[in-house]
Amino acid sequence: MQKIRVKDKDFAVSIPWEKIQAEVRRVARQINEDYAGQTPVFLAVLNGSFIFAADLLREITLPCEISFVKLASYQGVNTTGQIRELIGLNLDLTGRPVIIVEDIVDTGLTMAHMLETLRKQNPGSIDICTLLLKPGKLQVDLDVRYCCLEVPNDFLVGYGLDYDGLGRNSKDIYTLAEN
Ligand code: IMP
Repeated sequence: MQKIRVKDKDFAVSIPWEKIQAEVRRVARQINEDYAGQTPVFLAVLNGSFIFAADLLREITLPCEISFVKLASYQGVNTTGQIRELIGLNLDLTGRPVIIVEDIVDTGLTMAHMLETLRKQNPGSIDICTLLLKPGKLQVDLDVRYCCLEVPNDFLVGYGLDYDGLGRNSKDIYTLAEN
């Protein structure tokens, strides 16, 4: 089995590139059908979704726009909790069909926060499209309409996903190997 070392850990290939591509095409076809006659706005969540978004968008045959957004975390001056601000959104979403493009939904807290923030912009609709979903880790009730692959709870890298900033450039998806 093909292995790679990322920083100080070993990872073994778990989802080959060809399998990822087949699932991305399947989901893109579904979106093309479901959104026929509409001009959706794709909101790709950086950094992890950049490769998935690039592959997905090339399979979308609808007229569409894309914007890359980020949830920036910082400590508030007067608060004890962490503030997560949506940055990079340069489109008016009022009345628009929005599709969030995410690399992986783990606890679902990131997506839940994103939905809450985006709803304030009065979009026509919002759907979540994720490359990977860990159903075993979900902590919130989340409606994930489009999902390429469901995965176990293990930590993954590659195809945009990182371990401590590294490994995003691996073509396949790798899972943390037991030593
Ligand atoms: P959530 O808020 O717990 O759903 O976490 C979502 C974010 O955590 C993703 O956008 C990733 O950046 C990161 N993440 C969750 N699981 C993994 C993983 O297995 N590998 C790399 N990043 C992950």
